Amino acid sequence: MPIFLDTGKIAEIEKYMKMGIISGVTTNPTILLKDGVTGGMEGIKERSIQIAKLIHPYPLSVEVTTNEKEKMVEQAKAFSQWSDNIVVKITIHGPNGEMENLEVIHELETKHNVRVNVTAMMSAQQCLIAALAGASYVSLFGGRVNNMGYNCIDEIKKTRQLIDVLNLKAKIIIGSTREVLNVIEWLVAGAHIVTVVPNLIEGMIVHPYSKETVQQFLRDAARAEQLLNQ
Ligand code: E4P
Repeated sequence: MPIFLDTGKIAEIEKYMKMGIISGVTTNPTILLKDGVTGGMEGIKERSIQIAKLIHPYPLSVEVTTNEKEKMVEQAKAFSQWSDNIVVKITIHGPNGEMENLEVIHELETKHNVRVNVTAMMSAQQCLIAALAGASYVSLFGGRVNNMGYNCIDEIKKTRQLIDVLNLKAKIIIGSTREVLNVIEWLVAGAHIVTVVPNLIEGMIVHPYSKETVQQFLRDAARAEQLLNQ
């Protein structure tokens, strides 16, 4: 199922779950902070468990809050105990390009039975490396790639081709949505999943001409009713 919600807001998740159109949720520390999570790790745990329950068995991605190797492993193992649908987000490398993250990703997937979503990626080559390390999901930040002046669609196509040809298990998630059109364009390009901010999903559904058409139908139905009753 191709659409995840990129949010920490319970009301938005409930709304789109009821419609049956989302099949996962992604978060990161920035999203949780923006969406009102307070209280440090306890706050993150509480909100994550709430979301995980709400969408079960669909996956919820929760990001580690450290870049120290042992602590990342420790946190990832702890997060994955919160609920069996939690996937742990690890960035492709550290803040200064530290590459130990890949060891962490490999270890979590192969030794600790933790599903990993490798995040903050801007290119097909990063996605390939993450997929080779054993990641369950590889997250490419489409909007940020486009903001840097090159087209993320090329990166999506290359990533999908490589994953298919090499028969790797990773699913491609494209995040960092900026426009309504991103969703279908990125799916058509080969993304398995696009993780979408809530207001863009509304933008996909509501169309001014559909509104006008529905208004016309209702107006004419009321007129027909009146005529019948005359
Ligand atoms: C994806 O998993 C990320 O949480 C998110 O889409 C990043 O988006 P941004 O570029 O708007 O921060």
